[in-house]
Amino acid sequence: MRKKIVAGNWKMNTQLSEGIELAQTLNKKLDNSENEEVKVVIAPPFTHLASIKNVIDSKKITLAAQNCATHEKGAYTGEISATMLKNIGVDTVILGHSERRSYYYDTSETLSLKVAQVLANKQEVIFCIGEVLKEREAEKHFEVVKKQLSEVVFKLSEAEFENIILAYEPVWAIGTGKTASPEQAQEIHAYIRGLVAENYSNEIAENTSILYGGSCNPGNAKELFSNKDVDGGLIGGASLKADDFKAIINSF
Ligand code: PGA
Repeated sequence: MRKKIVAGNWKMNTQLSEGIELAQTLNKKLDNSENEEVKVVIAPPFTHLASIKNVIDSKKITLAAQNCATHEKGAYTGEISATMLKNIGVDTVILGHSERRSYYYDTSETLSLKVAQVLANKQEVIFCIGEVLKEREAEKHFEVVKKQLSEVVFKLSEAEFENIILAYEPVWAIGTGKTASPEQAQEIHAYIRGLVAENYSNEIAENTSILYGGSCNPGNAKELFSNKDVDGGLIGGASLKADDFKAIINSF
């Protein structure tokens, strides 16, 4: 049975002391029974990961990075490898976020290299896909997500794909206050699950968690998560307030 997951993408927010405090507060607010039902993930900036690892209970909160390098080590100034993340106890990496794709030129080629690095270290990937407003208006959203999946994660073997969590994030809903309607989310999540079944098997499709992201908040999470194919959320802005994030977790 697939996992329900609520993941907080902190993006480039919080100074170290604020990040530690946020993680500690969240850790206090969660109890183990909640974690049995919903897997809680937080993705702070790179500079915070090692310190935050020491203040959270890994049975309650899984730590994730927001990106990683295309290579394992060497002359790649400014980059952080999946191996380095593994070494400090980070077992999950978000890849393919639309901000990385649009501002930092992540392409299917670079993302394939990054996914390979993460899998080589036996870590999990939260792989983000989603269309921009123009594509949605032109009704190309199905085509866009199919291409994004086919060019990267659908190239993996069955065993490799089992380490992939998908996150559908319509770019027009990220940080804009506009959310996909529950019907829009369910429609495309069901389509994505169908693609997984086509590429692998019904069993793998049933076991794949597909998260929704884009202006998800305590007010709309319940309605979004009540859809059969929406297995949780990738939360940006609302993950920076412990109470809001906890309320989203409790929406299941
Ligand atoms: P948002 O961001 O919740 O602030 O819209 C979501 C994301 O980018 O993961």
